[in-house]
Amino acid sequence: MNIRLSVLLFLIFFTITSCGFAISSRAKDFGYSSADLASEETLLNLFHSWAATNNKPYLNSPDTKSTKFEVFKDNLNHIVATNKRRKSHWLGLNAFADMAHDEFKRNYLGFNPKKNLLTSTDHTTSKIFMYENVTNLPKSIDWRRKGAVTPVKNQGGCGSCWAFSTVAAMEGINQVVTGNLTSLSEQELIDCDIEFDEGCSGGTMDYAFASVVAMGGLRTEQDYPYTMEEGSCQPAKGGEAKRVSINGYEDVPKNSEESLLKALAHQPVSIAIEGSDRDLQFYKGGVFEGPCGTELDHGVTAVGYGTTFDGRKYILVKNSWGPEWGEQGFIRMRRNTGNVEGLCGMYKMASYPTKTKPY
Ligand SMILES: *[C@@H]1O[C@H](CO)[C@@H](O)[C@H](O)[C@H]1NC(C)=O
Ligand SMILES: *[C@@H]1O[C@H](CO)[C@@H](O)[C@H](O)[C@H]1NC(C)=O
Repeated sequence: MNIRLSVLLFLIFFTITSCGFAISSRAKDFGYSSADLASEETLLNLFHSWAATNNKPYLNSPDTKSTKFEVFKDNLNHIVATNKRRKSHWLGLNAFADMAHDEFKRNYLGFNPKKNLLTSTDHTTSKIFMYENVTNLPKSIDWRRKGAVTPVKNQGGCGSCWAFSTVAAMEGINQVVTGNLTSLSEQELIDCDIEFDEGCSGGTMDYAFASVVAMGGLRTEQDYPYTMEEGSCQPAKGGEAKRVSINGYEDVPKNSEESLLKALAHQPVSIAIEGSDRDLQFYKGGVFEGPCGTELDHGVTAVGYGTTFDGRKYILVKNSWGPEWGEQGFIRMRRNTGNVEGLCGMYKMASYPTKTKPY
């Protein structure tokens, strides 16, 4: 009797503490609490503290402030409603919380496959895929842990995602081949790769890889820093670091998760997604499950894959919306969904640079 009771007590105690631990170790950072949602007054206080934290200059301008407050409340409603419904991922108030979704879409994307002369007919399995015979894939891989991923960058209000996606994949293969992690220049692509790509109006990673080959490599971020706008192509100054070169690029066979994993087991890979979905604007954490379509409009970089402790399989993706967005700037996107194009179309147009020379 005594033993049974103590076993029972032990089980109850253990269950409670293990739950408590699980909850606290997975604290979700929504950026608001339920008390903030109580009244118009608490909402206004929340807006003020959010605006102060995010350095919004318009608090002193009553008209702008009231317009922005309305947008903020509308976004907050969407965030709160989504968080009540969704189990796998959650949304939070981030730096985009005062931006209507249309404005966000106009400014923070920039993948432009319609301008891609290498149309989908070229993007097939007919070209060489150097990883096609790879077997024994690791269960998971995270290129951040292998030192092949630079800190998350921020494209700002310029549709230059394609340059960030290209550069992150190049930084990756350069580290894999040389052991050196060097931050490279998106701005050089924006200013100099202008025949097929269009700066802040969008571009395509395959074109950018081809341009980098023609340019003899890319200069470093330090030598050619980001300005968030289109400029003229700057000639190299004396004393700059050596360019980082690639040999070429290959496409991952489209609509094949397995092929993407094979490539990802060897290097970070540029992918395109439909990024113009409202949940992505406010994604804060967890394994993202959509909703999203598959009309590609945003370039990002896959930098790993894995499975959560509760069995959710994901592709790990580096975005270019700053480190405050998502999971320190990254997003885990659900894979193995049964949709061959992948969540948000992420298997439709994946590609990677090739590099054999150590410079
Ligand atoms: C994969 O294996 C097949 C059959 O052996 C071969 O024809 C093909 O060239 C290989 N692919 C690569 C990229 O090595
Ligand atoms: C790695 O970077 C260091 C410092 O910039 C440089 O001296 C070295 O040559 C680089 N190694 C390779 C293989 O590029």
